[in-house]
Amino acid sequence: MRRRTAGCGWVSYSIVPGVLLCLLCQPGKVAGQISLTDQQVRDKAASLLQKMTLDEKIAQLSLLPGFPAPEFRENVKQPMEDVLKQFGAGSILWVSDPKEINRLQHVAVEQTRLHIPVLFGLDVIHGYHTIFPAPIAMASSWDTKMVEDAQVVAAGEARAAGIQWAFSPMVDIARDARWGRMVEGAGEDPFLGAAMARAQVLGFQGKQPGAQDRVLACVKHFAGYGAADGGRDYDSSYIPEEELWNIYLPPFKAALDAGAGSVMSAYMDLNDVPASGNPWLLHDVLRSSWNFQGFVVSDAFAVRSLVTHGYARDPQDAAQKAFAAGLNMDMASGVYLKYLPMEIQQGRISMQQIDDAVLPILETKFRMGLFEHPYTDESRIEQTFNDPAHRQLARRAVQRSTVLLRNEGGLLPLDRTGKSGKTIHSIAVIGPLGDAELDLLSMWGAMTKPGPTVSVVQGIREKVGSAVNVAYAHGPNLTRDFPSPFEGLSIVPMKEQPAQTPQEAQQAIQDAVALARRSDVAVLVLGEIDLMSAEYASRSSLKLSNGQEELLEAVAGTGKPLVLVLINGRPLDITWASEHVPAILEAWYPGNEGGHGIADVLFGDANPSGHLPVSWPRSTGQLPLYYNHNLTQKPETQPDFKSRYWDILSTPLYPFGHGLSYTTFSFDNLKLTPTARAGDVIDVSVDVANTGHRAGDAVAQLYIHQRAGSASRPVRQLKGFERVALQPGAKRTLHFALGKDELQFWSPTGKKWVVEPEQFDVWVGENSNATLHGEFRLTE
Ligand code: NOJ
Repeated sequence: MRRRTAGCGWVSYSIVPGVLLCLLCQPGKVAGQISLTDQQVRDKAASLLQKMTLDEKIAQLSLLPGFPAPEFRENVKQPMEDVLKQFGAGSILWVSDPKEINRLQHVAVEQTRLHIPVLFGLDVIHGYHTIFPAPIAMASSWDTKMVEDAQVVAAGEARAAGIQWAFSPMVDIARDARWGRMVEGAGEDPFLGAAMARAQVLGFQGKQPGAQDRVLACVKHFAGYGAADGGRDYDSSYIPEEELWNIYLPPFKAALDAGAGSVMSAYMDLNDVPASGNPWLLHDVLRSSWNFQGFVVSDAFAVRSLVTHGYARDPQDAAQKAFAAGLNMDMASGVYLKYLPMEIQQGRISMQQIDDAVLPILETKFRMGLFEHPYTDESRIEQTFNDPAHRQLARRAVQRSTVLLRNEGGLLPLDRTGKSGKTIHSIAVIGPLGDAELDLLSMWGAMTKPGPTVSVVQGIREKVGSAVNVAYAHGPNLTRDFPSPFEGLSIVPMKEQPAQTPQEAQQAIQDAVALARRSDVAVLVLGEIDLMSAEYASRSSLKLSNGQEELLEAVAGTGKPLVLVLINGRPLDITWASEHVPAILEAWYPGNEGGHGIADVLFGDANPSGHLPVSWPRSTGQLPLYYNHNLTQKPETQPDFKSRYWDILSTPLYPFGHGLSYTTFSFDNLKLTPTARAGDVIDVSVDVANTGHRAGDAVAQLYIHQRAGSASRPVRQLKGFERVALQPGAKRTLHFALGKDELQFWSPTGKKWVVEPEQFDVWVGENSNATLHGEFRLTE
């Protein structure tokens, strides 16, 4: 593994002369700002490296598990802490108690020969104590500023608790909703995904390395995990090179351009070579093409799994293959600890290669100020956690990320004041997620140190007060046919709902229907518990499970006004509801403030403004489904070839970018330069106006299509968006720039990036079916 020398893994840094103190001799020093120049960082890391033994170096290439993981014990017989005392460690994962973190850090800093601090890592994905909506929801906000702000909060809370490294952002493009981890990313689109990746990295790391309220970002899972065959988690991905460059890799590139200091390699085989031992990904793309200067960590146990894949002969071969491919740090399998010394002895790996792999890890620790501030100040934690601004932002995030899918007859917002003349006296909240708390947090949110969560029924009760009777009926329980293997782990608090007999489930449905009959309005809260849409949570069908469809249809049969609120991590099959239920609100996993934010939207204190980051299928059989597909020889736009299935339309139920509001918007007056030279920037302007009677946020989306060229181009591609707040009657002119970054693509013909002198279409509007059209031509 050769390393390039120039550059810094962070987006920018500043020089603060005089702040560099004796780093190794001040354990316990209070938190503050430290900032070294890139040269200082390199010098310090290089000089420390010279003092290190081989074992100490290999320890820096190892992430130790904070609980006795059997996969680690297979290779390392000593307790984790003995390894730490003897040689130190690159990182420790799965310890979240700040006292324990400080204790282990004292061991590393005070009891090891070279006093090198440990980097404590955790899955801080959408919050640490204040849990924000899950990433797919945050992407639905199309609000990069808010996404960045939320990760600033997450970073501050995590760092206060002693975590310095977040295994986030997860930027895997997901086009197949069967894949359970769609919830953790920004959906199907590379442009939106890149914007969300950038915002999250800036939120986690900031622009100032060494800031004591920020954390190191780890962009994952490199790369192609979302394309798992059949949507089955961990299964192989087969992705042609053009699709990798044009669809799957751009969010990673955006995260690295924003300064992400670390990358996590994915679990699965990519085109028959496991990502965690894949030289093309880890060396050719990451280091050679992108000049990445940070370090790569494997996913958990993934180095050891190279044997399971049938790629490595044995664990030693796995260590060799992962290391030679460019993987710096082994997460929790202990394979590097045990076998890299042998590889050196047997001459397959050189000391220079080891040094090249260790340096970026040491540099990261210096850059982050870990030598200066290895410990967390436990007295600051509560104050940081309890900052009211954090909860306020979380509530705002729910308001801005829920997607109003349907609102026939303007059923929403519900009127709690009686101004409309339809005073509501009673509300039935129904469904297995109506009183859920932990399940609103999604898997990773439930696993850090979440604060209290407001359920949907509680949020509605607080909203309407005692004048309206709010009653709750649970309906049938939600269980998986095959339980999640995570459920049994000590670090996992999530649980399935208890299994019921068919009679009990039927009774629960009847009770719910009876409640709906007695009430003025029914709010059904359906979807998936957190263990149904997460890692190891793929499913073969998107149908509402466990009798929820029956419950929905039975409650609809009462004829009461009915609102469906969805709590889930992926689109579900709601085709029946889309025709029979007047109002449908997609709330995803909304986090701690879920109940408040949802009630704000239901009762009109917030105007919904989320837009789908995925195409919503009509049925599972359409998967994989994505809007930016090619035209084909029989495009759906032709009158007699409107579907490629004979039983359903090929189009989605709701298009990518769809989302309604309580007001209406118009898009007009599209202007653009009709011709420009390839390489110049095309300015596109459009007027967006609020044509309704409420203030609201429009999400203007710009799509392009290149009509001909060296390869077939997608029917539409998102290349610009802006969220804009408008009072009733207000109008704004928006400008979008289409330059090289937006117009280039990786062409399979020349196997390179090209901007081609061709004719282009442009559309601007509220979703990927936008009709306001213009065109331009690029010349040589
Ligand atoms: C496995 C998951 O795939 C990854 O996303 C996570 O960061 C690691 N485990 C660590 O918990």
